[in-house]
Amino acid sequence: MEINLKQLCAGVCETAKMVGAFIKNERLSFTSNKIEVKGKNDFVSYVDKASEKKLIEELSVLLPDAGFIAEEGTSKKKGAIYNWIVDPLDGTTNFIHGIPCYAISIALMRNDKIVLGVVYEINFDECFYAWEHSKAYLNLGEIKVSQTPKLADTLLATGFPYYNYDRMAEYIELFKYCMQNTHGLRRLGSAATDLAYVACGRFDGFYEYGLQPWDVAAGAFIVQQAGGRVADFSGNENYIFGKEIVSGNSLCFDEFLNVVKTHFN
Ligand code: IPD
Ligand code: CA
Ligand code: CA
Repeated sequence: MEINLKQLCAGVCETAKMVGAFIKNERLSFTSNKIEVKGKNDFVSYVDKASEKKLIEELSVLLPDAGFIAEEGTSKKKGAIYNWIVDPLDGTTNFIHGIPCYAISIALMRNDKIVLGVVYEINFDECFYAWEHSKAYLNLGEIKVSQTPKLADTLLATGFPYYNYDRMAEYIELFKYCMQNTHGLRRLGSAATDLAYVACGRFDGFYEYGLQPWDVAAGAFIVQQAGGRVADFSGNENYIFGKEIVSGNSLCFDEFLNVVKTHFN
């Protein structure tokens, strides 16, 4: 089956914007009694679940044979070739506290390779996207990673560990190093948005451990199509399912990765 990925990507962007409008509207009447606790510091609400249901319905129309790896477990369908990797609301903690940074993240995997990625940040109405062999885009414009060559001049993003505290000591040491040897660090609270911001050059790099495939698959792909690099903490390719990711512009990436490697291995 030959798929027109450009056309499909346009459909996925429309779907993300439609469900994003639903999320934005629900936020207006959202109250804390609607929060459910999935695990330690892991929250969900009917908004995450309803959004995932809508996304799965629409994506199933766009590509009927594809399966799903979706955070809230709405569909367990496995596709023989194509599978969507979906986070219906990345940044749930921000959403429930009314902090304006949360996104929808959708990637399409062909066998084990990502071929399309969409990250839609709802509050700023910013849709980041790319497909196989394409450039990367933010709304209608092309985006590229930054050109900052030295780690000393970078602004980095990270996510604080909120479970799996076994690697906390290494994380804190790396954090200290980055505090003292870069322009600083930010914690947006949405890994998909962190990666999208690397892709468009707002951040020079991003690292976090403990992430799931739906947090990173789309954003990491968009970073690569925007000219950036992505790896796990050993410099290998296992950053989607391996629960650790480092990403950056191609000029500072090797220096950044070496610092991460030194602290974590
Ligand atoms: C979370 C966000 C956050 C990251 C967490 C993720 P969720 O996703 O991406 O930035 O630090 O590790 O779990 O739970 O809001 O979809
Ligand atoms: Ca997430
Ligand atoms: Ca989520």
